[in-house]
Amino acid sequence: MIGTSQNRGLLAVARPTALLAATLVVAVLASAPSASAATTLGASAAEKGRYFGTAVAANHLGESGYASTLNQEFNSVTPENEMKWDALEPSRNSFNYGAADQIVSHAQGRGMKIRGHTLVWHSQLPGWVGSLAAADLRTAMNNHITQVAQHYKGKIHSWDVVNEAFQDGSSGARRSSPFQDKLGNGFIEEAFRTARAADPAAKLCYNDYNTDGQNAKSNAVYAMVSDFKARGVPIDCVGFQSHFNAQSPVPSDYQQNLQRFANLGVDVQITELDIEGSGTAQADSYRRVVQACLAVSRCTGITVWGVTDKYSWRASGTPLLFDGNYAKKAAYTSVLTALGGSSSGGGGGGSQACTATYSETERWGDRFNGKVTVTAGSSAITGWTVDVTVRAPQKVSTTWNGTPAWDSGGNVMTMKPNGNGTLAAGAATSFGFTVMANGEWSTPTVGACTAS
Ligand code: XIL
Repeated sequence: MIGTSQNRGLLAVARPTALLAATLVVAVLASAPSASAATTLGASAAEKGRYFGTAVAANHLGESGYASTLNQEFNSVTPENEMKWDALEPSRNSFNYGAADQIVSHAQGRGMKIRGHTLVWHSQLPGWVGSLAAADLRTAMNNHITQVAQHYKGKIHSWDVVNEAFQDGSSGARRSSPFQDKLGNGFIEEAFRTARAADPAAKLCYNDYNTDGQNAKSNAVYAMVSDFKARGVPIDCVGFQSHFNAQSPVPSDYQQNLQRFANLGVDVQITELDIEGSGTAQADSYRRVVQACLAVSRCTGITVWGVTDKYSWRASGTPLLFDGNYAKKAAYTSVLTALGGSSSGGGGGGSQACTATYSETERWGDRFNGKVTVTAGSSAITGWTVDVTVRAPQKVSTTWNGTPAWDSGGNVMTMKPNGNGTLAAGAATSFGFTVMANGEWSTPTVGACTAS
């Protein structure tokens, strides 16, 4: 409402004298960012102080639909395969930077950030590395890191220094690999120290999958990062690959898990996001991921694992934001909206933002009541969505003033209005709920508010 009347006023008087017109131009420019939402993933993420990236394959850069979608929508890239050991050093001390350099120069020419992926990984590792004895393997590992990180020195925003060093399942153990088996646990910190010396400006990340929620594997990574921070081993960030599907959905404690890592004093990044599915279910999962990142101040960016479904490593699961013809999917719109962007264009539609804040209103011996206040931003809204996550064994027993939907695990409640969706600019409403504690008294996590 404020934005609209301001625009009208400026347009109405933007005629008379040159002096007045000049003043008005300044005023219009100054108010532009809040008056119109960004219209691309990269620009809307940037308005939230974050990047929005994609994995890129050098051999598709010549395809016009691929390149134009990449250039228009994304402001960060990760080479999908071109910086892996087998691509860069297929035989000992013979480095092959061609395809990776192509991606780096494409990105640099357009002001995009570059995530380096990956220096030390058990997979896509040339055979010669695995056949070295321990002392030689250590030399080869440190040489690989040093050569590659120096080649790209100053150009890489974040390096995945070590990728996937932990086992799946309940053991919390390290995964068997030539590095682990011959050098022991210490190979990970050695890799980080070597990377820091080779490119001191790059952020150094540990990256893994199945660590997106709290489980034995993420607990083991957490313990390692905590130990690194305590002992001054150089680590700056943890990457959460976030490859999701029906068997491995977005965990209900995703935001809480990102936050506990951030609390160790590292940035967190969503590094390889893709979610198999289609339509509103897929869109809703993407929205939850974006909202979780936005709710964690040290979550500095999101990378999806590819531009288009047709080139996805899991193409049959159509897990990305653009279909095979580069058309925007429902998941795209949901991500853009969650980032505060707007696909309706910058035509003065106004920001659609709202905010959600939590308070506990009552407590008894076995339960408590929570209240979430939803407040419209500088424009009127006609609907809102807020996720509330409770921690098992907590259960929500009653809700009021909202229409809840539940994730399969029963911990994430997606609340939409129940007759209280329309709010004037700055106006507020609230919904409430009762949580049966079942012995767990932690405060529910309230995600970001999405307005419509
Ligand atoms: C995948 C690529 O997308 C495929 O093209 C390639 O054949 C195999 O690797 N975790 C990672 C990524 O860290 O490097 C993987 O990328 C996907 C899983």
